[in-house]
Amino acid sequence: MSRFWNSRVQGLEPYVPGEQPRMQRLVKLNTNENPYGPSPWALEAIREAADEGLRLYPDPEGTELRQAVADFHGIQPEQVFVGNSSDEILAHIFHGLFQPDEPVLFPDITYSFYPVYCGLYGLESRTVALDEAFRIPADGFCPPNGGVIFPNPNAPTGIALPLDGVETILAANPDRVVVVDEAYVDFGAESAIRLVDKYPNLLVTQTLSKSRSLAGLRVGFAVGHPDLVEGLQRIKNSFNSYPLDRLALAGAVAAMKDRDHFERTRQAVIAERERLTGGLEALGFEVLPSAANFVLTRPPGRNAEQLSAKLREQGIIVRHFRKARIEQFLRITVGTAEQTDELLEALRAQGEFHERTS
Ligand SMILES: Cc1ncc(COP(=O)(O)O)c(C=O)c1O
Repeated sequence: MSRFWNSRVQGLEPYVPGEQPRMQRLVKLNTNENPYGPSPWALEAIREAADEGLRLYPDPEGTELRQAVADFHGIQPEQVFVGNSSDEILAHIFHGLFQPDEPVLFPDITYSFYPVYCGLYGLESRTVALDEAFRIPADGFCPPNGGVIFPNPNAPTGIALPLDGVETILAANPDRVVVVDEAYVDFGAESAIRLVDKYPNLLVTQTLSKSRSLAGLRVGFAVGHPDLVEGLQRIKNSFNSYPLDRLALAGAVAAMKDRDHFERTRQAVIAERERLTGGLEALGFEVLPSAANFVLTRPPGRNAEQLSAKLREQGIIVRHFRKARIEQFLRITVGTAEQTDELLEALRAQGEFHERTS
């Protein structure tokens, strides 16, 4: 606390990102990064862009990247906004597209950055409880609100909402912006991008951090009606006109174009998720059905927080949330086959979890 902080900063409860340990040789399954490297095309493009051109500011509108995203999704560049990570785009949305007179609606168990943005921008919020199976109740988003946001698949549950559920929420809120945060969509959910022509209140956000393995580059995009995109441009140009640097733009364009690498690596993650799920279930863990690159899992008869600490001693980091309804769960990122094996081996080595024989 400092007397130089204004009252808004004094009242903030900032987001706490997952640990980025400096130790080598850790099995790092705590922040939903992709275990495979980014597209070699992206790495080459970044290397090529690292020249004296860095003297100049980058394209403020990210024209080439908007075109590459539009080409990938079969939409128009006017429907695409690009930003320095989807987190930053979400911040712009909370700042300028949600109405301040009524609470923002989001699920009770969801991405913990949403309440932080409400705090930052002075917005009220109201949560909608997931059902007993941890699914988003599509008919629960009807109270008066200043905007609606939810991830699909949801985080940290990993559970996807089918598109008819997304449409129910859109139709119930024709005068409010409904944001579908699709950070993990490429690992098994259906994208709402194909609904943008039908619903002018829909904004879909995606990131290159997960399925394109570029968390270190910080690139995200939003897709929606050109009026919403123009609103985001206005906010961006009142905050930072050059949010994406030349290296990020070059790498992101190449990554969007490398469809083979994208397809191969996301399929590998999906296959490994199924193997991880099977391995955990065989040890008696409950695993929620995930369409993401992580699973939320409940160890049998064991305190999840203690288990997470124990795994850390064994060199494996997973994420535990001290949060009602999920405090007995761990969120485990899907890693490589070797990392899955190391995790399962570490669990077996604790002597409490035994393979079920059928
Ligand atoms: C649901 C959700 N949305 C958005 C993000 C942010 O992604 P980015 O790396 O683009 O900021 C994350 C990151 O973990 C996430 O879990």
